[in-house]
Amino acid sequence: MAKLLEYQPLKACYLIYFATSLILVKLPLWTIYYIPRSTRPRRSWTVKRCLIVRVIKELFGMKVDLKLEGTQTLPTEVPDTSLVDAKFIWIDPIPDELFCGEVHRIAEMTGVQPARIPGYWLIKKGSQWSGPKAKPGEKTVLHIHGGAFYLGTANPSHVTANITRGLLMHSQSLERTFAVDYRLTSSAPNPPANPFPAALLDTVAAYRYLVQDIGFEPRNIVVAGDSAGGNLAVALVRYLLENPSSLPPPGRLLTMSGWFDLSMSRHSPQSSAVRNAPTDIFNILPPGKLFAEYAVTSLRGPMDFEVVKTHRYLSPVSLEVKPAAEGLFKGFPETYVVAGGAERILDDSLALVEMMKSDAVQVISDIPPDAVHDFPAFTWHEPERTEVLRRIAQWIDTM
Ligand SMILES: *[C@@H]1O[C@H](CO)[C@@H](O)[C@H](O)[C@H]1NC(C)=O
Repeated sequence: MAKLLEYQPLKACYLIYFATSLILVKLPLWTIYYIPRSTRPRRSWTVKRCLIVRVIKELFGMKVDLKLEGTQTLPTEVPDTSLVDAKFIWIDPIPDELFCGEVHRIAEMTGVQPARIPGYWLIKKGSQWSGPKAKPGEKTVLHIHGGAFYLGTANPSHVTANITRGLLMHSQSLERTFAVDYRLTSSAPNPPANPFPAALLDTVAAYRYLVQDIGFEPRNIVVAGDSAGGNLAVALVRYLLENPSSLPPPGRLLTMSGWFDLSMSRHSPQSSAVRNAPTDIFNILPPGKLFAEYAVTSLRGPMDFEVVKTHRYLSPVSLEVKPAAEGLFKGFPETYVVAGGAERILDDSLALVEMMKSDAVQVISDIPPDAVHDFPAFTWHEPERTEVLRRIAQWIDTM
């Protein structure tokens, strides 16, 4: 802080003001305000949950510097000694024969190449690590973390690792899960980096690693993702189905609070984006503004916004996806769709469930009514978090 005061006094003052007004003024006032149930965003919420959601909203509203936030650094190796329940590994870039189809065509347009990226094994408490090779019949989860394509990491200290940590805790059959540190995207005021399909190619690389290097049978893999990671999980399965010469698709798919329509084509006064604005963790945006515009701009790179609205890989549930949405999910594996009933992108998950059902995909939808965005990651979001993780773990155990 002293350094910050010296070099960026304005910023330091803002941060001090922000923190003191939050702790000394706002928190006590909010606490009193939320005592009657009628003032809480949801009547079932405890005062503690109301306060946590309010504080997260406040933090999202901070005047942060995108210049710092969206700066993508090159990955470095993390020594095992700094990891408690995990192992770091490098994932090789996908070979030429796996770099194909429509995704390859877009990659040529946006100038994206396969890359070597990090991954982490997360190991069940009490389980022995006996090397990476899969045991006969062993199951695992490939987790793709959220963070609007430009934030977050697969590092096990990050909040989203608590999703798979929870699954390991409640499942009888899982001994370890795998998380991929895909490339994050950025754009002005930062150097533009990693537009679509960089992150998708990295999830293909992680899947290839599990199948070809480690020896998991595709049918024993659950491809999972939360938020933007849910979008990537669906895109990965689509990639495998559209390119039958690549690798067989996974046994199952799991999405949690997935962000499936980057163009917000369903936006209306009745949509969840508006209706759930008071109950979700995100700060309220002016009407008509896209969610995470920075992310969408970074991701599309040199392509027109039209692509974001119409492309099945970027916005698979967009109302304007072309060619028409019919049959878009044909052949998808059994899918478990989790969302929070109080979250703003709830409609994305509802649309996915409907579209999958009409394409005869076996789909389970699990939507606790008063839960916020990405609640399976938040250990303060009980009992919904544990309840949903238990149900998913059971579903994996019956695979
Ligand atoms: C993950 O869960 C543990 C156990 O509940 C908790 O102590 C930790 O703070 C969580 N991590 C994050 C980053 O939220």
